[in-house]
Amino acid sequence: TPIDVTREKQAAAQEAATLVSDGMTVGLGTGSTVAFLLPALADLHRNIRCIATSPQTESIARQVGLMVEPFRDVISLDIAIDGADQIAPDGWLIKGGGAAHTREKLVAISAQRFIVIADSTKTVNNLKGPVPVELLAFGLGSTLHRLGNVTLREGVPHSPDGGIIGDYHGRLDDPQSTAAWLSGTPGVVEHGLFPPEMVTTIIVGHTNGKVEQR
Ligand code: A5P
Repeated sequence: TPIDVTREKQAAAQEAATLVSDGMTVGLGTGSTVAFLLPALADLHRNIRCIATSPQTESIARQVGLMVEPFRDVISLDIAIDGADQIAPDGWLIKGGGAAHTREKLVAISAQRFIVIADSTKTVNNLKGPVPVELLAFGLGSTLHRLGNVTLREGVPHSPDGGIIGDYHGRLDDPQSTAAWLSGTPGVVEHGLFPPEMVTTIIVGHTNGKVEQR
């Protein structure tokens, strides 16, 4: 049978919604998989406080009736749920296809549990670049020169926080060292490599409507 990506995203999102309980503070990721999560959360829970990782998520969340508040004075979240662009067998993720990875990483690291929801096409044997990056506008030319191989986005060139969004095309055989190098480069606000330690559970949806957790 052909892969039904929509059904897979829906199944993963629905399962994740059941991990949330009333009274929780919930970090909401960004993207087409999270778009299935938001109505599912609104259906199941009357009393949760949400933090959104993008203006798009915030707007959909409010439309479906979720309570969204700014991520400023909130110290920690009970749970965060987000999609991913690629999931490696060892648990490394690439995120940021939707340019929201800086906020997504902040929300993920602030959550007691970080749940990744994805369709089966996101699982890969080896991560394949590029790695999304958000760069500070100040000194951009110099940062790009030091990074070497970055293309700037045309569609969504800025994050909601003013950063410049690009993609780093470099070696990815050792994500740990690429992540450390990007994090250690001044002018890089954040990159889209998420280490396995950041992730509590990965929920992959299948076309038959079942989910697989790891
Ligand atoms: C946003 O910047 C990304 O990290 C998304 O979480 C990721 O692109 C997943 O999006 P989809 O659920 O649309 O595949």
